[in-house]
Amino acid sequence: MKKTIYFLAAAVLALLSGCAAKDDTEKKIDSLVSKMTLHEKVGQMNQLSGGEWLAEAVEKGEVGSILNCTDPAELNRIQRIAVEKSRLGIPLLIARDVIHGFKTIFPIPLGLAATFDPELVEKGARISAIEASASGIRWTFSPMLDIARDPRWGRIAEGSGEDPFLDAIMGAAMVRGYQGDGDSTSIAACIKHFVGYGAAEGGRDYNTTEITERSLRNVYFPAFKAGVDEGAMTLMTSFNANDGIPSTGNKWLIKDILRDEWGFDGLVVTDWNSAGEMIAHGFAKDLKEATGKALDAGVDMDMMSYGYISFIEELVKEKKISEKQIDDAVRRILRLKFKLGLFDNPYIDEQRAGEKLYAPEHLEAAKQSAVESAILLKNDGVLPFKGVNTLLVTGPLADAPYEQLGTWAFDGEESHTVTPLEALKKEFNVIYEPGTEYSRDKGTALVARARSAAARADAAVVFVGEEAILSGEAHSLSDLNLQGAQSELIAAVKQSGKKVVVVVIAGRPLTIGRDLENCNAMLYSFHPGTMGGEAVADLLTGKAVPSGKTPVTFLKDAGQAPFYYNHFNTGRPNNGTETLLDDISLKAGQTSLGCTSYYLDSGYGPLFPFGYGLSYTTFEYSGLTLDKMSYSNGDTIEARVNLSNTGEYDAVEVAQLYVRDLVGSVVRPVKELKGFQRVEMKAGETKEVTFSLPVADLAFWTLNDGYAVEKGDFQLWIAGDSASGEPVSFSID
Ligand code: NOJ
Repeated sequence: MKKTIYFLAAAVLALLSGCAAKDDTEKKIDSLVSKMTLHEKVGQMNQLSGGEWLAEAVEKGEVGSILNCTDPAELNRIQRIAVEKSRLGIPLLIARDVIHGFKTIFPIPLGLAATFDPELVEKGARISAIEASASGIRWTFSPMLDIARDPRWGRIAEGSGEDPFLDAIMGAAMVRGYQGDGDSTSIAACIKHFVGYGAAEGGRDYNTTEITERSLRNVYFPAFKAGVDEGAMTLMTSFNANDGIPSTGNKWLIKDILRDEWGFDGLVVTDWNSAGEMIAHGFAKDLKEATGKALDAGVDMDMMSYGYISFIEELVKEKKISEKQIDDAVRRILRLKFKLGLFDNPYIDEQRAGEKLYAPEHLEAAKQSAVESAILLKNDGVLPFKGVNTLLVTGPLADAPYEQLGTWAFDGEESHTVTPLEALKKEFNVIYEPGTEYSRDKGTALVARARSAAARADAAVVFVGEEAILSGEAHSLSDLNLQGAQSELIAAVKQSGKKVVVVVIAGRPLTIGRDLENCNAMLYSFHPGTMGGEAVADLLTGKAVPSGKTPVTFLKDAGQAPFYYNHFNTGRPNNGTETLLDDISLKAGQTSLGCTSYYLDSGYGPLFPFGYGLSYTTFEYSGLTLDKMSYSNGDTIEARVNLSNTGEYDAVEVAQLYVRDLVGSVVRPVKELKGFQRVEMKAGETKEVTFSLPVADLAFWTLNDGYAVEKGDFQLWIAGDSASGEPVSFSID
């Protein structure tokens, strides 16, 4: 009893002191704002990239935040100017794209999504924050929450793939990891790019989008809403114009949805010159008008268009923008700086800046992430290797320390990267032949050498894929086959008659169908980061067992894009009995090949569905039951299934729960992921796996333009991928 009273008293005190601290901060903000000239206020709203001339602008109070400077000594120098020489001494907020690690590079976000392991993803983001903050970076432009249904889009590498549910969970995990407990290792997360950027027409970066409000709300908003609910401190607008309105000038998006509907009170920043780009979009006639539109939409900080610093004062004088609006934006910026403790502690301890980098536990987490992100797409039993002494290692990605880090890994250093070649040399007697010089190399001079070397080995591993530069921003592709002579290399090595394992290191799901035919096993590792080599070696030798699952649909052909598992059924769904052009029975002069929704050449289905991935063991699902047949709003559905590990390896299975809402006021997806669990299973073990699904999670944006769970019939199933599983029925009454 005594203990409880003490606990309650302590909690009340903590709460009161929390409120007092909050009030104190607000008072400090008020006092600062009251002392600021309009020019200084505008300065806080201006974000610039590092450069020689920056010092002068900082001293004049014309810069609130800088990006792209990571040298601790240089950052201290510039911060000293802000704190000690500018009139009000307001510290700078230092930003950087820490996307999948700072120095210790984790797998690209798409690979992280393949782990289906939010705890590990959170841990990775925490480590990134620890490393980055030690070097003075207190704001990262991550996580990218853009739904990507088209692998031609190069930035598919930077997000969690095609599924709103997985995206929301992974995004929230990253926000938690970056922001931590709010101590000096906390860095502000920035959920981006708001919104719809990944739906670029044709997968071409920066391209137009045409997303309806319903799709925004059902598909593109949920991860952003989850990020806001998780307390993300900042948000970035996107480059694209949706329905004719560039996001940076979209008042409905920023004011009505983000601020009013979701209650976001953090900082909104433009993307790089996205205010200025509204001129090229044809949405503003000049930078002044673009600035006015961005401000009017509710954007607080201008990244690199120089519009805010050049025109806000004029716009205020002309009464086109109120000073109150500027004050609100400045308050949000100052609040963030206070929250991050920058006023108390603006400098970096240069002596210790390097201590936190590449710590053994960071490398260990990066390796674990790389292990869990790898997806086994094919295995005829060759893996894990048994009785292999001499191994041919070939391919342009076998020993490419920079390329294996992937896109947006500016700060990761090649010298710390362990390549697959290096790691495999510790396990096997390795014969190494590059095969081709780099992924786009069309030359076949080295291919023959690799083929003949295979004859001297017990087995071969061919490392193919994409150089880092082939995915990421502005790096879209229309051809998703392996580039250069890589497919020829795989086929040539196969001709040796030896067992061939292909490891794909890439930024997107490539169309690897023909390569699958030329190998005995394929492991898809995306860009696995600093520790990718050791992770792959552990997987090939069986020290680790693959558990990754595809976070996006893998296509047979780029022409199938956009393709996603949670599509609508259409009025003419294909039931898998398609007639294909290369069907031998097809005769010239035939007038109809059927009347359903599919491609004559690549058919209906994908190469691999969403959620797919093999293991060295096998799993069986049986006996799915629900606790009831019908539910009401407010209920929670309890689903149980028996999961058996029917093989010989202890392993992890990602059990996935899917739902179908059979009839709606608007058409509903053929399936939607609503839950997943990584289940650790001993060989031979059977476990009951339970899922609790709140009925509220079945809500969507209905015909009545509101979120609701509609009454009616549903199906639910639990399986190892999105294309398997036997549904059971239930209803919402
Ligand atoms: C442009 C990119 O779209 C955005 O994601 C990134 O954060 C900024 N540049 C800053 O580098």
